[in-house]
Amino acid sequence: MKNTETITLIDNSTGKKLELPILRPTVGTPTIDVRGLYKELGYFTYDPGFLATASCQSAITYLDGEKGVLRYRGYPIEELAEKSTFLEVCYLLYYGNLPNEKQFDDFQEDIRQHTLLHEALRSFYTGFRRDAHPMGIMVGVVGALSSFFHDHENVHDAKLRQRAAHRLIAKMPTIAAWSYRYAHGLPFMYPQNHLDYASNFLYMMFAMPTEEYTPPPLFVKALDLIMILHADHEQNASTSTVRLTGSSEANPFAAVSAGIASLWGPAHGGANEAVIQMLLDISNSDNDVQHYIDRAKDKTDRFRLMGFGHRIYKNYDPRAVIIRNMCHKILQQLEPGNDYQELFDTAMKIESVALKDDYFKSRNLYPNVDYYSGIILLAMKIPLNMFTVIFALSRTIGWISHWNEMMQDPESRIGRPRQLYSGEELRNYAKLDKR
Ligand code: ACO
Repeated sequence: MKNTETITLIDNSTGKKLELPILRPTVGTPTIDVRGLYKELGYFTYDPGFLATASCQSAITYLDGEKGVLRYRGYPIEELAEKSTFLEVCYLLYYGNLPNEKQFDDFQEDIRQHTLLHEALRSFYTGFRRDAHPMGIMVGVVGALSSFFHDHENVHDAKLRQRAAHRLIAKMPTIAAWSYRYAHGLPFMYPQNHLDYASNFLYMMFAMPTEEYTPPPLFVKALDLIMILHADHEQNASTSTVRLTGSSEANPFAAVSAGIASLWGPAHGGANEAVIQMLLDISNSDNDVQHYIDRAKDKTDRFRLMGFGHRIYKNYDPRAVIIRNMCHKILQQLEPGNDYQELFDTAMKIESVALKDDYFKSRNLYPNVDYYSGIILLAMKIPLNMFTVIFALSRTIGWISHWNEMMQDPESRIGRPRQLYSGEELRNYAKLDKR
């Protein structure tokens, strides 16, 4: 990265000048290095929500929100979605390149060998209420993994980091499926290592010890696709949470558990669940789409069109296009006139009304990845409260790849933002009877 160019900052109150280096990325937006600002001029920068702040350097994922571009390690998401598999994408994200045959065989074998959970972890599940949200269970159980592997983790040892990453990729489907089985009083199904990654998850979700179960091939394909599309998205809220947590050299399982907590919110990964809830509400209101569009535009109403809008994409989210096509394919396989088709039709109607509406056009609000993914999951009989769990399962590779990258970055330091203090100035303590 070149940094010979600078930008000059002039403090009008003192006349002091400061040359700040401009960092040029391989592709994308140039970035001003403000690290000298406080030392030289005595100022912090103010940027709530990180609207214009690059928190780190990263070589993992590139996105251009204006043009609707998303690439993992340089590869367009459209190509990976068409030609790759989720496990190959995991390898790509973590190691930086697509694997050759031998590397991929070894990788898949290692993942297969780590799918089981320590038997003691089973008892963690029974401590939760039956009606616990599975994301709450995920936060707890993934956090608990830290207590099983803490002594083996040295975050500065690349081999041990790799082992933690492989363990997380391998165990996450088991942890996720068991959170569903527990809530429904169903027996825990152990992983079947002859199955591929997506089939194994569906097996642990839906198989019964008493019967044969083979997941429908289109469902396996759809799940694998959804996982590829959700695998990484650079410095979003949950990934930044994992980085910030990991920056104190915390246990990686604990850091990923923090990421799961961040993902849960409806403004982030929880949106896929909220989209279906919204579509069901609209269906129950005789499909009064305009009423919901008007509510979304009304600033006195907290309602937002869920699955619409994105901090980075000011154009169509490329993942939403791919997911919408898969949604079509899945629905074609089901009985005509099924309930999911009705939800899909409602979703398409909202999209077409919103994209013609000045409010949405002027704010560049387009469907995001969550808009259509829920309909696919619902058609696959995945319950609503498992949607964000599947997102977490898919994003684990992104989180752990960023954590690994951060641990190798010589510029990385403990994350410690500054603040613009707006509280009281100095006050002296008054005794209770004097207040
Ligand atoms: N419905 C109605 N209005 C919206 C929506 C929406 N879904 N999204 C944004 N807006 C409006 C805002 O009210 C704001 O209007 P204003 O300029 O008049 O104040 C403007 O568009 C800009 O929105 P911000 O909230 O400032 O944008 P921000 O980048 O902070 O938020 C976010 C992005 C959180 C995704 C937002 O668009 C949203 O809440 N969407 C709905 C939830 C959702 O789908 N989340 C999933 C995101 S994708 C993911 O995490 C995988």
